[in-house]
Amino acid sequence: MLLKPIMHKTEYTFSTKTVACYFDADLSSLAQAAGNKNIIILTDENVYSHHAARLNAYPVIRFPAGEEHKNQATVDQVIHELIKLGANKDSILIGVGGGVVTDITGYVAAVYMRGMQFGFVPTSILAMVDAAIGGKNGIDVGVYKNMVGTIRQPDLIFFDYSFLQSLPVKEWVNGFAEIIKHACIKDALLFSILERYSLHDYQADKTLIADLIERNAAIKSTVVTADEFEKGDRKLLNFGHTIGHAIENLHQIPHGHAVSIGMVAACNLSEELNMLHFEEATRIVKLLAKYHLPVDLETDHAKVFEVLKMDKKRRDEGVQFILLKRIGEAEIVYISLADLEKHFKEIL
Ligand SMILES: NC(=O)c1ccc[n+]([C@@H]2O[C@H](COP(=O)([O-])OP(=O)(O)OC[C@H]3O[C@@H](n4cnc5c(N)ncnc54)[C@H](O)[C@@H]3O)[C@@H](O)[C@H]2O)c1
Ligand SMILES: [Zn+2]
Repeated sequence: MLLKPIMHKTEYTFSTKTVACYFDADLSSLAQAAGNKNIIILTDENVYSHHAARLNAYPVIRFPAGEEHKNQATVDQVIHELIKLGANKDSILIGVGGGVVTDITGYVAAVYMRGMQFGFVPTSILAMVDAAIGGKNGIDVGVYKNMVGTIRQPDLIFFDYSFLQSLPVKEWVNGFAEIIKHACIKDALLFSILERYSLHDYQADKTLIADLIERNAAIKSTVVTADEFEKGDRKLLNFGHTIGHAIENLHQIPHGHAVSIGMVAACNLSEELNMLHFEEATRIVKLLAKYHLPVDLETDHAKVFEVLKMDKKRRDEGVQFILLKRIGEAEIVYISLADLEKHFKEIL
């Protein structure tokens, strides 16, 4: 007989809501977790094609996969379908998919009938450890990523790791960039655990991946609940993202790749500036490479610097940078543009 995993519940309390996280869960228990409300599933065509049999237990709304569909047109389509299905205050919209699906779900649920209940079944590594957690959601407007959105916590997040069986390897790699980021800024023990295993180990061993996801979901949830309005600690989650976003913008490479290169640059800068006495960049580069993430890039430094200057985290004539003191401990450091420019060629 096949034993179903025993799910367990952890609650995270935000100022507006307590979010229930169900770990090691099986989709067949979703109705129980949702308190028997009328479940409506929102997913993308890609996830649906792999998991239709299980998802069809509920009414399903689908839209084409991909970042280019994280826009208002998709929101309009979903709203029309919700009306057709008679969705109301007793319904709960459950986004089953990667970060694109969870973002659209949170946004639609915030505006449909001035707010309906919603939850997530994240199916990519990135969605499980990052996008599904924290309450931020939104859509892109043309080239402007996440330009429109709301902050609203889901009622539940439901982790069923069996979805990962169909996740392409490149999406595993993408998600591991955020996992390594968490280890660098908050969890030295996680860093050494990652050094001990490989991507293949995590793909092959259900217990290993379950522990890893839960540990990372806890890191993000704890950081976000402690600093919901991004005044301090939550900014640490931007480690690797300042230069990362600039590179992603210019080179159209996957987010995880850009963040990986951004983390290497931030490590190099941490060493160069020497104010935090950081000296573990080599260990971090080695770990990123081990998880198939790129650690350098041929690029036009002047162009990257231009884009970076326009970054939304720029304050007056400087940048708020996340640097490392040691593995597992990060700090927000204000760096003047002049100083950054001086080191730029050496760090990237
Ligand atoms: N709200 C937040 O706080 C937050 C944080 C980080 C990222 N994000 C957003 O998340 C998005 C990126 O998330 P993502 O990397 O999951 O992207 P995604 O949703 O586009 O998923 C990547 C690809 O994997 C596919 N996929 C997902 N799960 C699968 C599965 N189990 N089996 C087979 N295929 C599967 C998707 O269909 C898609 O093709 C971006 O839009 C980003 O802005 C949001
Ligand atoms: Zn990221």
